[in-house]
Amino acid sequence: MSELKVGIDRVGFYTPRLYLEMTDLALARGEDPAKYHVGIGQDKQAVIPPTQDVVTMAANAATQILRPEDRSRIKMVLFGTESGVDNSKATAVYLAHLLNLAADTRAIELKQACYGATAGLQLAADYVRAHPDALVLVIGADIARYGLRTPGEVTQGGGAVAMLVSADPQIMALDAQSAYHTADVMDFWRPLDRTEALVDGRYSTNVYLDFFKQTWTAYQQQTGRTIADFAALAFHLPFTKMGRKGLRQVLPEASAAHQQELTAAFEASQLDNRNVGNLYTGSLYLSLLSLWRHGDLRAGDRIGCFSYGSGAEGEFYSGVLQPDYQRGFDDAALTTLLADRRAVSVAEYEELFQQQLPNNGQDVQLAVGADSAPYYLAGRQHQQRQYRHRM
Ligand code: HMG
Repeated sequence: MSELKVGIDRVGFYTPRLYLEMTDLALARGEDPAKYHVGIGQDKQAVIPPTQDVVTMAANAATQILRPEDRSRIKMVLFGTESGVDNSKATAVYLAHLLNLAADTRAIELKQACYGATAGLQLAADYVRAHPDALVLVIGADIARYGLRTPGEVTQGGGAVAMLVSADPQIMALDAQSAYHTADVMDFWRPLDRTEALVDGRYSTNVYLDFFKQTWTAYQQQTGRTIADFAALAFHLPFTKMGRKGLRQVLPEASAAHQQELTAAFEASQLDNRNVGNLYTGSLYLSLLSLWRHGDLRAGDRIGCFSYGSGAEGEFYSGVLQPDYQRGFDDAALTTLLADRRAVSVAEYEELFQQQLPNNGQDVQLAVGADSAPYYLAGRQHQQRQYRHRM
């Protein structure tokens, strides 16, 4: 096996500048706010205006981490999403164009519910192991939609994570071993005629925990590592209570002191997700970012990552933090992005929810005045989405 270190070099994150307070949503739905804040574990939920879709959010995340000299070295764009904008053309092709990447770039969309970005990350790592000079841009971008007044409504959200995968990475080197598990399960899906997911909610939480147990066990058998080898475990967080349940499943395997360390790391890993909601493909990666931003970690620490995509596929993999890993993301910019958002009322959220670009093919010109993001969607003309970039 090669000694080359390969992994996550830089990470960018974008979510739109609107959010809904979960207390407001609970009161509007006749629920106890404590159910949303404690029972589900969410405080705020990103609200996505019609001028943002997965392509623009990905561009807004990627533009934060790309340097001019990267453009000729990026050989692939692997775009994980389950909120694609076309049944044929890949979001990655729009993105490569918006980012002005070189023409000798492969641009592909990957779909397996929330697992798509992990598939991208692992394929990217294998590619870089074979081509050490290359960079691969991996995206996890989604809009989590369940529908107004459904049990899933409190677990919506949206945004994009962009990761550059390279040799000798700044943030985290990936271990070559990982354990994955696939089974045909109907816990969550979105048929072609629907803009909202269908979900068997409580069943999906059980499948998630079962896949975590299976992949964690298989990973330990494969590597000989135990929980003692981990400074932190990061989870796909459809809502933060879900990861907490996953952690509780394995905590008894750790010593008392180590249980405290793993719990503190989990608290750090869920802080940002609590204020954004589910990002589907991006959720595990926002959680990792949250852990790196808020956790008490040091170079050499091993982090375990559980990725889950309904339908279903799970993977447990791991990585080792690199010296000066904090230089791989812009902590202050992320704090500002989250702090500078505007709260919308429940009425405004419901109106924006209905304003998603309709699937009727008609020409639409969107009011973009309120959207100050560098990349935005201006509307649709002749069946083509009109993407724009503000300099
Ligand atoms: P629900 O039926 O409204 O909630 O749906 P509940 O009755 O199960 O209550 C939730 C928790 O709140 C419970 O705690 C209650 O006790 C507690 P738990 O027993 O789970 O620990 N609770 C309270 N706590 C404090 N004060 C109170 C109070 N009242 C109740 N007053 C459900 C919850 C998650 C099912 C729903 O929101 C849903 O369907 N969400 C969408 C599905 C989902 O997120 N599934 C997660 C696993 S699948 C996955 O991760 C993949 C996914 O991301 C998609 C993809 O892969 O693409 C979803």
